[in-house]
Amino acid sequence: MKNTKIIVKTKSKSYPIYFGNNNLSRVGKLIKKNLPNVKNIIIVSDKKLPPKLLKKLSKSLKGYNPKIYKLRVSEKIKSFKFSNKLIEIFLNKNLNRSDCVIALGGGIIGDLVGFVASLTKRGVKFINIPSTLLAQVDASIGGKTAINSPNGKNLIGTFYQPDLILTDVALLKSLPRKEMVCGYGEILKHSLIYDKKFFVWLSNNGKKIINNKDTNALKTAIIKSCKIKSIIVNKDEEEKNLRMILNFGHTFAHGFEGAKNFSNTISHGEAVLLGMILASQLSYKKKLLSLKDLNLIKKHYRNLNLPMKMNKKFKKNEINKIVSFMQKDKKNQNDKINLILLNKIGKTTQPNDYNMRSNEMKKFLMINYH
Ligand SMILES: NC(=O)c1ccc[n+]([C@@H]2O[C@H](COP(=O)([O-])OP(=O)(O)OC[C@H]3O[C@@H](n4cnc5c(N)ncnc54)[C@H](O)[C@@H]3O)[C@@H](O)[C@H]2O)c1
Repeated sequence: MKNTKIIVKTKSKSYPIYFGNNNLSRVGKLIKKNLPNVKNIIIVSDKKLPPKLLKKLSKSLKGYNPKIYKLRVSEKIKSFKFSNKLIEIFLNKNLNRSDCVIALGGGIIGDLVGFVASLTKRGVKFINIPSTLLAQVDASIGGKTAINSPNGKNLIGTFYQPDLILTDVALLKSLPRKEMVCGYGEILKHSLIYDKKFFVWLSNNGKKIINNKDTNALKTAIIKSCKIKSIIVNKDEEEKNLRMILNFGHTFAHGFEGAKNFSNTISHGEAVLLGMILASQLSYKKKLLSLKDLNLIKKHYRNLNLPMKMNKKFKKNEINKIVSFMQKDKKNQNDKINLILLNKIGKTTQPNDYNMRSNEMKKFLMINYH
């Protein structure tokens, strides 16, 4: 597979994403080329990753003598306590603003390390090497960093674009199927909100991606997905308007995850997939989406065995809790629930155009509880 590069352009920074298969060994050279002033490097990595990946990365950075920290990953480490620990480690190592930290891991490591990089000395260089499909197509792009609060997930954070992203399809070899499905949900979302042709392509290639981890199919889907997300982020870096279309399915998802107290009972990816099918169903009910398009989406879910039934995860009496979390979503501007819906496959409603009272949402979920 050939190496490919795209440039993400935002108001605050332009940076490259390098895509490839087995390309960890390029990191050292890419730092020399893109960040010539880097002298010290700290790598923060997920403990669960196969050790050979970290070895390969360290070997490529031999000249820099990088310091390595391996973390046991869970949402708990996206906290002030942990951020503080990392900042002190960076300061003790005398990391300067021209030096760099590398996040090697999924969205949790990326969100945490990006947050800490943005605060240390008001910003050190930050390289993201995402190791999950979700992080490769979504979390690593767009510059949102985040930690959690007892009041909710991702409520504390900064906008801080990385200086370089390296996406290596080979990192996904060890990723469990469940995590592949989570990442696939975001790929599917990008097609539904922006690109019908891509949706049709996914309908023919989805199985190759999820079941076979086919290198070429993965590469095509990841690059296409990153391009769509970066086009949207380029136009609205700080989520004032257009970027909200990326929340398609996510207001429902927030309700589903909240109703389970953000526990492992439902993963973010499963919640998003369930959220997108309900948002599609609602779009049809509101006469925005045609029955033909709704059926195409349902067929896609059935073919790939994606989660589409609420009753598999929730009891009917959890609907009140789901709706109350939907109401608390940080994207709402008043008591009503703000939603992005579909006009057709490839096109959403405008941000802030559609909202719904909680009672109406409860009724809708009751009717669609099966
Ligand atoms: N910043 C953003 O724009 C953004 C967008 C979406 C999600 N997120 C955040 O990302 C997080 C979810 O990301 P995620 O799904 O990547 O989660 P994650 O980092 O928890 O990774 C999922 C699981 O896979 C394991 N793992 C990671 N890479 C692996 C590999 N190559 N092989 C085997 N196992 C591997 C991890 O240890 C973990 O158990 C959430 O905290 C979410 O809030 C951020």
